[in-house]
Amino acid sequence: MFLYPHYRSPLRFLPDPNDGHFMLGQTLKFIRADSANDLPLNFMRRFLDAPLIRYTHIGGAEWILVNSVQAVRDIYQSKCYEFVKPSYFRRITGEIAGIGLVNAEGDIHRQERKLMNGKLANSRSRTSANLAEGAFKLANIKKLVPVFNAKASALSCSIGASLSSCDNEAIDVCDVFQKSTFGVISLATLGIESATLDTPQLPFSELYRRILDQEPAGITLSLINTFIPIRWIPLKANQDFLNANKEVRQLLRETIRSRISEIQRVGYGGQRKNIMQQFTEEGSQDLLSFMLYERGGGEDRWSEDEILGHVKILASIPHNAPPSYAELESLPYLAAFAKEVVRCFSPITFNARTPVKDTTVCDTVIPAGTTILITPQVLNSHPTIWGPDAERFDPDRHLPDDTRGELFPLSRDPFAMASFGNGPRICIGKAFGLLQMKSMLVELLRNFELQRENDVFGGVKVKNYMHLKPKGAIWVKFKPLSS
Ligand code: HEM
Repeated sequence: MFLYPHYRSPLRFLPDPNDGHFMLGQTLKFIRADSANDLPLNFMRRFLDAPLIRYTHIGGAEWILVNSVQAVRDIYQSKCYEFVKPSYFRRITGEIAGIGLVNAEGDIHRQERKLMNGKLANSRSRTSANLAEGAFKLANIKKLVPVFNAKASALSCSIGASLSSCDNEAIDVCDVFQKSTFGVISLATLGIESATLDTPQLPFSELYRRILDQEPAGITLSLINTFIPIRWIPLKANQDFLNANKEVRQLLRETIRSRISEIQRVGYGGQRKNIMQQFTEEGSQDLLSFMLYERGGGEDRWSEDEILGHVKILASIPHNAPPSYAELESLPYLAAFAKEVVRCFSPITFNARTPVKDTTVCDTVIPAGTTILITPQVLNSHPTIWGPDAERFDPDRHLPDDTRGELFPLSRDPFAMASFGNGPRICIGKAFGLLQMKSMLVELLRNFELQRENDVFGGVKVKNYMHLKPKGAIWVKFKPLSS
């Protein structure tokens, strides 16, 4: 086991930081790091020109870090279905997102994806000619803009109200944005106000915080759980995590069940057409109704677990919401700004794949079962892709006339920005997320002058977690524009 990586492995010729523990490799360093991006960024800076970097974990297990646009294209696009999610990754994402598109593989993934994107020819769901197929079809996402706007306006009002009761006009935006996100997500996905999901003891957003934004002990256990399954150990942090997860699952399941019985009561027939038309023509219909009606009550309907998986993914996305689709999309600087936010602060800190059979990436043979780590921030901050100022926040770089695009043509490559993944498994909520972010920014900038209180770029520390989460508060000063 310990000799193989050094003397036999076809990966032994790849650049390797070679500074890990002889038995544990880089595992402890990953667990102790300040953020999940730290080590991968360090490896990238050491081996700038290597498309793939090898390092080891417990027992000499070899992992590969993806470090070039070509490598990520091979894995995400050209050979997408030759790679699957490794079992450890399915375990940790499954804990949060449940079963669903994120963890579907092969033909099942292709089918579900086509269905959600509205590209499934000859499916039973298309037999009713005038239905709007695909909850995530852009035309349908556009129709969620009124939901985004309503929630953005509520956010703006609640910020205005809090200002009257605080002395220095500074607000912890993490908290208010997170609550607003729950409002958007529950309305857009389940068709209900988030308060409906609150339990007598706790708001629903607090339950979700216990899963996605754990205390230090919980983060450490989650990190160890990445490498060794330890959820069975009866520790308080484990139990808190499992209990919160169980309660979220139960609440979502009850909502899905009650909607299913509501639909069964009114029947799938004539009603179905009306609801689908409503989704198509009037907009603002929630995704849960869509999924329930889309396949009708027949055998190929979405199972309760599948729906739960999709809904949980949506609810686990750290995001927020606000004007018309055309207006939002006609502002190039707003688009550049949103893209730069996601480039500099990739909300997802890692993704992973493993080849189902021996294959090659950038002419390197990758044995079946090798874990491949894709850290979006590695590509997003890569100086050979974005230039020497890659780590500087500068939305101008995304404008068509910015000269950096000619000097660094790779920065215009669709695979250069890795925050949403890419290829057939690209984030299905990309348009949803960006649109929501833009509409919220517009609403806030219309109403307030914003000034950061602490140094966001140098000063905010993040948690070592799968999502980018700040440690502590981010204080922002809001000055109402009307004053
Ligand atoms: C800024 C916000 C978001 C970021 C950075 C993000 C990022 C990602 C990433 C990196 C993946 C993994 C792709 C892979 O496995 O290779 C993914 C998948 C996915 N995302 Fe997002 N996401 C965001 C928002 C959303 C939203 C708002 C939704 C739903 C409304 C969503 C739904 C999904 C789903 C269903 C998948 C699985 C797609 C598949 O495997 O086919 N995401 N996302």
